[in-house]
Amino acid sequence: MKLSIFNGSPKPGVNNTAVLLERFIEGFEVTEGNKAQMIRMNHEQAYKEAALSFEAAEAVLIAFPLYSYAMPAGIKTFFEQLEPLLGKCNGKKVGFLVQYGFIEAVHARALEKYLEYIAKALDCDYMGTIIKGGCDGLTKSKRGAKKTLTGAYEIGKKFGETKVLDKQQLDDYSAPEIQKQQNVLVMKVLIKIINKVYWEKSLKKNGISVEESFAKPYGN
Ligand SMILES: Cc1cc2nc3c(=O)[nH]c(=O)nc-3n(C[C@H](O)[C@H](O)[C@H](O)COP(=O)(O)O)c2cc1C
Repeated sequence: MKLSIFNGSPKPGVNNTAVLLERFIEGFEVTEGNKAQMIRMNHEQAYKEAALSFEAAEAVLIAFPLYSYAMPAGIKTFFEQLEPLLGKCNGKKVGFLVQYGFIEAVHARALEKYLEYIAKALDCDYMGTIIKGGCDGLTKSKRGAKKTLTGAYEIGKKFGETKVLDKQQLDDYSAPEIQKQQNVLVMKVLIKIINKVYWEKSLKKNGISVEESFAKPYGN
């Protein structure tokens, strides 16, 4: 199978989507004859060209980070470029990968429905959506994200063998659906620590004080 993979992270250089995709591809290409082509989609011209590659592809995986419970603007632009293909894709296999910061799968469920809708409107064979939270630091610490990366490899491998995204495997991978009640307390403490150690450090690096970060230039 030839799989065209679109990476819609707007970030230049290394990004979490790419780190996850690398492992997925490794697994996918274990099966002889499988070949994945990675297409970077992060500027205006690329969205237009990607629409042509989409039309020509045998099978497609569209991967991107969750932005505000939805998608980066560029992915929306890309979908809009596909409008001429509505109802004309003749069962082309299409799947999605959505990764993001929060741990729970529930954050991406509304988007998942939208993606399924888009695929069906194009007359594609919707294969499913790989949903994975807790991916914020993938570019920084691959060792800390071993389970996440091994999971991506295993999904790629099984998909490579069967040409199907296994629903049970995807559900196991994206768990937990929502955090257990007792973890809320842990999260509260954790978020305080993350704010202190990570965000405040980032602000400092960019020459911004914590007070300034709460500025509301359009508030008055
Ligand atoms: C504008 C913006 C909106 C985001 N919205 C969400 C969100 O709604 N939920 C979430 O869990 N993470 C959110 N994130 C975090 C990204 O999904 C996360 O950092 C992701 O791993 C980035 O992937 P990338 O490195 O491939 O671009 C957001 C990040 C940005 C920059």
